[in-house]
Amino acid sequence: MSKYKRHLITSALPYANGPIHIGHLAGVYIPSDIYARYLRLRGEEVVSVCGSDEHGVPITLKARTEGTTPQAVVDKYHEMIKRAFEEFGMSFDIYSRTSSKTHAETASAFFRTLYDKGEFIEQTTEQLYDAEAAVFLADRYITGTCPRCGDERAYGDQCEACGSTLAATELINPRSTITGSAPVMRETKHWYLPLDRYEAFLREWILKGHKEWKANVYGQCKSWLDGGLQPRGVSRDLDWGIPVPVEGAEGKVLYVWFDAPIGYISATKELTSEWEKWWKDEQTRMVHFIGKDNIVFHCIVFPAMLRAHGDYILPENVPANEFLNLEGDKISTSRNWAVWLHEYLEDFPGKQDVLRYVLAANAPETKDNDFTWRDFQARNNNELVAVLGNFVNRALVLTEKYFDGVVPEAGSLDDYDRETLSEMPELRRSLERNIETFHFREALKDAMAFARLGNKYLADTEAWKVVKTDPARVQTILNIALQITANTAVAIEPFMPFTAEKIRRMLAIGHIGWERLGEAGLVAAGHRIGTPELLFDKIEDAQVERQLEKLAATKAANSQTAVEVAPQAEEITFEDFGRMDIRVSTVLEAERVPKTKKLLKLTIDTGIDRRVIVSGIAEDFTPEQLVGRQVLVLVNLAPRELKGIVSQGMILMGEDTATGRLALLSPDGAVINGTKVG
Ligand code: MF3
Ligand code: ZN
Repeated sequence: MSKYKRHLITSALPYANGPIHIGHLAGVYIPSDIYARYLRLRGEEVVSVCGSDEHGVPITLKARTEGTTPQAVVDKYHEMIKRAFEEFGMSFDIYSRTSSKTHAETASAFFRTLYDKGEFIEQTTEQLYDAEAAVFLADRYITGTCPRCGDERAYGDQCEACGSTLAATELINPRSTITGSAPVMRETKHWYLPLDRYEAFLREWILKGHKEWKANVYGQCKSWLDGGLQPRGVSRDLDWGIPVPVEGAEGKVLYVWFDAPIGYISATKELTSEWEKWWKDEQTRMVHFIGKDNIVFHCIVFPAMLRAHGDYILPENVPANEFLNLEGDKISTSRNWAVWLHEYLEDFPGKQDVLRYVLAANAPETKDNDFTWRDFQARNNNELVAVLGNFVNRALVLTEKYFDGVVPEAGSLDDYDRETLSEMPELRRSLERNIETFHFREALKDAMAFARLGNKYLADTEAWKVVKTDPARVQTILNIALQITANTAVAIEPFMPFTAEKIRRMLAIGHIGWERLGEAGLVAAGHRIGTPELLFDKIEDAQVERQLEKLAATKAANSQTAVEVAPQAEEITFEDFGRMDIRVSTVLEAERVPKTKKLLKLTIDTGIDRRVIVSGIAEDFTPEQLVGRQVLVLVNLAPRELKGIVSQGMILMGEDTATGRLALLSPDGAVINGTKVG
């Protein structure tokens, strides 16, 4: 790190269209927070930026389904996300948002610079257009069949089933998600960043220059580059976003993936007037923390943008993680298959560090990983309670008991003492190496090894026995145990800051810098420690079962809604509806229409008259089930002939989308025939 003077850490800006769950924390924010805290502890100059990503189609769709505005959606979730991050101790120097004024200016100016330098291609093409809603359809406004895997729920930008990136025009049988109608083609002008122009540079910079990047990241970059880069659209026809700052671009905004990464720059600007040294000085080491679905944007597209602009540094590393699953299934916001941070805090108040610990220990660093509540319980009970909590508690309680809470003299050390203490600097070296190479799971093991070392030391030296024969030896033992306790507090701080703080409070010591980690003299003889408390408590089976029940309920609810219902039909007016005359009627007679499977001939009393209706319900109802029953009938439907019988109206019913079974509609209590429905 020596050629660098300072560290700029960015964490993917979460979309402000939903709350944050454990997958976000494990994949992006916990690793970035460990890294930032570690570097600060080492005395490095650090800025860590994050904020809400508030543009893009999903936010406008969410506003539509919630019957509100995109601004209201992002206001709500921005606050929620910001709070959750604070509560879990994410130590961003700034948590900003892309709807800020500074960001609009920064992103506009960035676009304008590229535009003026001739870095874009301007092109008019035919795009999908929803004539009913009078809007161009991009990205998530379109669904259809994936041309690669045939999945019928692919979006205009991506197929979630096979992971392919798609252009909306590639979809087979495309549909508008707004109106459900089939889109038409219409001409529109857009700006494209010709990524192909940067291919040679990117190959050199990544494939030759950054072989040290994580295998998953390097591999994805290589396959993108080997596949050949195409120009990428950087504008969209939308009314939510940052207006394209050129003439003749009315109704067009910057593509969300163009403006969002510039959000890192805007956030730095909002944080400090010295923002340029963080972005324009080669001595800044920039690291992007992201999830795997963001790799192409942070390793290919954003670097190409930065390069095209010319003033900015590029990332030194992009330690992207894979995904975290939950109890064996992919985490999904729409299926509510997640552990939401705000709900976790309600169920496990004060246990932020337990989740931080479990997620760091389980981080999906090299492959997708699974979060299970049983593992959560086991790690809490067997590692945090039994190792870390137990060691710290024993060291403090024994000091209280034998020395009234005053740190005893170290006295003369024997070989075992020296051997034990000498392990600490070694653990420190391993811990540092692991954090600096983004191996946070291993690093956490190293940090916990301080507590394991202390636990073993106390168990081996048996102060409670020795105290009867050799009280001076117990002074040494507890002095050493307290030194290890203080070291443990330093070592775990990047991972569990709340617990580190609690240990310091119990030791009644101030903050200790990383440079002293591994030393034996962190707490002085004669110093009075504070009151011992338990660091962690056991998580009971009942608590785990409650969480599992909650997930089972989600599964059950999902299997009910798994079937896709038909999209909403075209809008009608009140008058349109009023033209339908629907009456409560009673079925008087029912008989099968010969030589048909489905048809019944019904004679009904509409209150207006007696008439015959032919209805296709014979597969679901016998004539006996119908006679005497009240049903709803559309009585002013033009008569039509079926199998030689004139049918005068239509019986209203529903067809279950999942089973296809027909359901008759009836009043909830008998009413007089001829009662109008509306
Ligand atoms: N909002 C994006 C996501 O959640 C991440 C944006 S990262 C940024 O996948 F670089 F664009 F900001
Ligand atoms: Zn597909």
